[in-house]
Amino acid sequence: MEKFNIAIDGPAGAGKSTIARLVAGALDFVYVDTGAMYRAVTWKINSAGLSPEQTSEMIALTERMNIRLVPGENGQMVYVDGEDVTGVIRTADITGNVSRVASIADIRRILTVKQKEMAASRGVVMDGRDIGTHVLPDAEVKIFLTASVQIRAERRYKEIRDSQPEITLERLERDIAERDRMDEQREAAPLMQAPDAVLLDTTELTVPEVVERILELCKSHV
Ligand code: C5P
Repeated sequence: MEKFNIAIDGPAGAGKSTIARLVAGALDFVYVDTGAMYRAVTWKINSAGLSPEQTSEMIALTERMNIRLVPGENGQMVYVDGEDVTGVIRTADITGNVSRVASIADIRRILTVKQKEMAASRGVVMDGRDIGTHVLPDAEVKIFLTASVQIRAERRYKEIRDSQPEITLERLERDIAERDRMDEQREAAPLMQAPDAVLLDTTELTVPEVVERILELCKSHV
């Protein structure tokens, strides 16, 4: 089968990673979660104790760090300089800081180069915010996945309420809306639908229905 690339973009909590992983599995493609890379950089910056104004130190750290995404039994594992950070990059602390770090153009430039390399041999499903617009503008299939902010918050709430009982649905809704605002309004590669991306609103769709629609769109390339 000819290999091709699939770009999946959209706002926080739209189900991109679940969908992208299933699509990659169905096609035997490699799944790349670029949000995990921005989270890994944010974790490294926090661990180094850098303050928000130490931008050049953050860029230098990003330049030096080694990020590895490895397929694991329960999804993608993330390693930073050999250390397993898969769990810690999902904490509320990192989620609250990642959009600020992701707004720094030089950090985006460094990660974009890595992401392009990962997709160079094709056969990749990559999810993020700027994949169809900046990272893989030539991707054969581009999807913009969205859903109402309420439904995205509810889905996230169901996922995390057991592990993080202190988080309320209202707080999640606020945080998601704020992260979307920052991702949409930044200057460098903001979150937006590529003109040639197919819009899929998943508010009323189940996960298997969304996967089915994407696989349908891939048919002309298989
Ligand atoms: O996908 P996830 O919610 O884990 O992404 C975390 C954050 O990383 C996003 O809110 C956004 O600020 C940033 N990001 C980005 N560009 C990407 C992927 C993620 O700016 N391609």
